[in-house]
Amino acid sequence: MKVNGNHYHSIWYDKNLDQVKIIDQRLLPYEFEIITVETLEEFETAIKDMAVRGAPLIGATAAFGIARQMLRDHSNKNLDLSWDRLNQTRPTAINLKWALDRCRNHLLNIPLTDRGYEAMQLAIEIANEDVEINKKIGLNGLEIIKSISKKKPKGEPIRLLTHCNAGWLATVDWGTATSPMYQAHNLNIPIHVWVDETRPRNQGALTAWELKSHGISHNYITDNAGGHLMQHGLVDMVIVGTDRTTSRGDVCNKIGTYLKALAAKDNNIPFYVALPSPTIDWTIEDGINEIPIEERSESEVSLIQGKDNTGVISKLKVTPEGTIGSNPAFDVTPAKLITGLITEKGICEASSNGLQKLFPQNNQKDCR
Ligand code: MRU
Repeated sequence: MKVNGNHYHSIWYDKNLDQVKIIDQRLLPYEFEIITVETLEEFETAIKDMAVRGAPLIGATAAFGIARQMLRDHSNKNLDLSWDRLNQTRPTAINLKWALDRCRNHLLNIPLTDRGYEAMQLAIEIANEDVEINKKIGLNGLEIIKSISKKKPKGEPIRLLTHCNAGWLATVDWGTATSPMYQAHNLNIPIHVWVDETRPRNQGALTAWELKSHGISHNYITDNAGGHLMQHGLVDMVIVGTDRTTSRGDVCNKIGTYLKALAAKDNNIPFYVALPSPTIDWTIEDGINEIPIEERSESEVSLIQGKDNTGVISKLKVTPEGTIGSNPAFDVTPAKLITGLITEKGICEASSNGLQKLFPQNNQKDCR
């Protein structure tokens, strides 16, 4: 998507410089800075510290990480070591393992001397596929927005609520939950987005930054405001992303998503999840008991980052001395609370049947 009139992906290979570039999301929405990632340590840190984040982007970054390591040392030993270290960076988003497995399975069949080149080609392919998947999710989600728009007085905006950042910054381009918004906006269908702040890391500020760059009407709201807005008829649809969706349609996403789904159910508001197929974990069913939930540093809760009035990005302590925060980063929304899953293959019910119909080739038992 565009930043100051220039089109960017969130990660790319600069062929002229022979470098992998990322947008450093730790500095957004305050500063737009592009950095180079090269060594295994730099790739690990970029993912762990959330310079890159969002399930699809984490997967694509890992693929580029493997590619850079294969250029230096294309041995099986280094392939396994890179796989292991990158796989440990973040535990919840399944796209990480999906991308690493895809790279390793492919490269093990490639002669050693060709691995460096092949690994980079595959990383580029994974990134390009992500763009295509998200574009299709947007077109499928657009149909839902259009059908809601038909029921509204002409010219009145469709009000969508989203949590975290499932935008183009969380993917390679388009985003998942934001893709239908961009598609609708491009067709001049009026929309307004309620953007959840998403403490503790405030990924809502990234969503707001994206929407602002594209001229999409939005308000940044506290995480606790959504239920109130729903009770007062101010939300037409909730749409969120996912870090891992089980074979029966349970959705793991940023902490707080579950509460939004409960409030949506209580208020009869459709709750959709934008789901790219690499985010489906076909090997598990029960999201609550089987998905590992990342526990991040307590300092993300007890300190809050912002830009002070001298223009410096700084952190402020919000808790009293001696109080320790607790920071589970994701939660699971059971399938029964989800109106539908918007995938690149179409929209389905959040259930084993629904997913199997769209992805018949994925038999869960074969994948174990
Ligand atoms: O901790 P983050 O910022 O990586 O979490 C991101 C999310 O929870 C997104 O909603 C999810 O990855 C979907 S991104 C298309």
